[in-house]
Amino acid sequence: MKLLVTGGAGFIGSAVVRLAVARGHSVVNLDALTYAACLENVASVADHPLYAFEQADIRDRAALTRIFDRHQPDAVMHLAAESHVDRSIDGPGDFISTNVAGTYELLEAARAYWQAKGRPESFRFHHISTDEVFGSLGATGQFTEETPYDPRSPYSASKAASDHLVQAWHHTYGLPVVMTNCSNNYGPYHFPEKLIPVVILNALAGKPLPIYGDGSNVRDWLYVEDHADALLLVLEKGTLGRSYNIGGENERSNLDLVRTLCAILDDLRPKDQGSYADQITFVTDRPGHDARYAIDPTRIRDELGWRPSVTVEEGLRRTVEWYLANEGWWRALQSRDGVGERLGVRA
Ligand SMILES: NC(=O)c1ccc[n+]([C@@H]2O[C@H](COP(=O)([O-])OP(=O)(O)OC[C@H]3O[C@@H](n4cnc5c(N)ncnc54)[C@H](O)[C@@H]3O)[C@@H](O)[C@H]2O)c1
Repeated sequence: MKLLVTGGAGFIGSAVVRLAVARGHSVVNLDALTYAACLENVASVADHPLYAFEQADIRDRAALTRIFDRHQPDAVMHLAAESHVDRSIDGPGDFISTNVAGTYELLEAARAYWQAKGRPESFRFHHISTDEVFGSLGATGQFTEETPYDPRSPYSASKAASDHLVQAWHHTYGLPVVMTNCSNNYGPYHFPEKLIPVVILNALAGKPLPIYGDGSNVRDWLYVEDHADALLLVLEKGTLGRSYNIGGENERSNLDLVRTLCAILDDLRPKDQGSYADQITFVTDRPGHDARYAIDPTRIRDELGWRPSVTVEEGLRRTVEWYLANEGWWRALQSRDGVGERLGVRA
């Protein structure tokens, strides 16, 4: 299959690109190269004959049309987005513009291309989204595909809007779509402004490990390479027009997660004295911080037979090992705008 992957220089998109090429798919990586992008993430496939890169913005319809015409993809996997909740609190405009208007432009470019080809049913537009569109859970329960949307941050509202656009393009125009909503990802190449890399890198630098509020917020963690595997499975086997929730059933409070990372670091790179956990510091909470997310993955498990391959303990260990072995990658990103600063407290 020839895949047009948007956002393939980001964290999850690059895992999809690497896996798809390894599985013999042709991949066109379309990315605007924002502050969150890093072409190093796809360096391992950069010279591969199955790989091509197009620097373009999904808000630029003319560029999208040119790229569809030039590459003639069989499917689109749409991951390009502004993705950091804290940045969406400080500046929601980019989130509306890229995640909502950009998705609209991509849908329209894809629809024109698909119609011109005679509306093949084998074409796929796979929209990649987040569990954050479902809002915040109490102590019990899980998000299913039937959970009503209740987004609460500018980021999740913009993703919810894009999900609705994709559904509408399927119902109104018949565009062959599949959709996925995934829980929090972690793993190699995670941009150093997100919780897990921040904790690892601050720990190594002897800096405070910031925990928002009391650390009781719960997230359901999935290793990024398992997410990429699930995405390719949904693309190839998912039922047309259907959405699939993807999660690892690995709920952890933020405080537990940070303590686990500290224990792994204590083991792999012990400090001269004490534990990395001594650096844990509680800071002002994020405004509107959702209490708990948890995914019910029954549909993708029962219909498509998908299961994550890595436990959270194993995945976190692999992640810490990767950051210890790849200092050159993360050092280069630490000077990017806003990285290392506390964002999203202005509300
Ligand atoms: N990170 C998570 O835990 C998570 C969980 C579920 C779903 N998602 C979704 O998965 C997708 C990828 O997330 P991520 O964490 O890899 O994000 P990321 O921020 O690491 O990467 C986003 C990529 O999109 C590109 N991009 C941004 N705006 C663009 C534009 N206007 N035109 C073209 N490219 C643009 C960036 O340059 C970057 O390479 C997003 O749609 C996100 O909503 C993320």
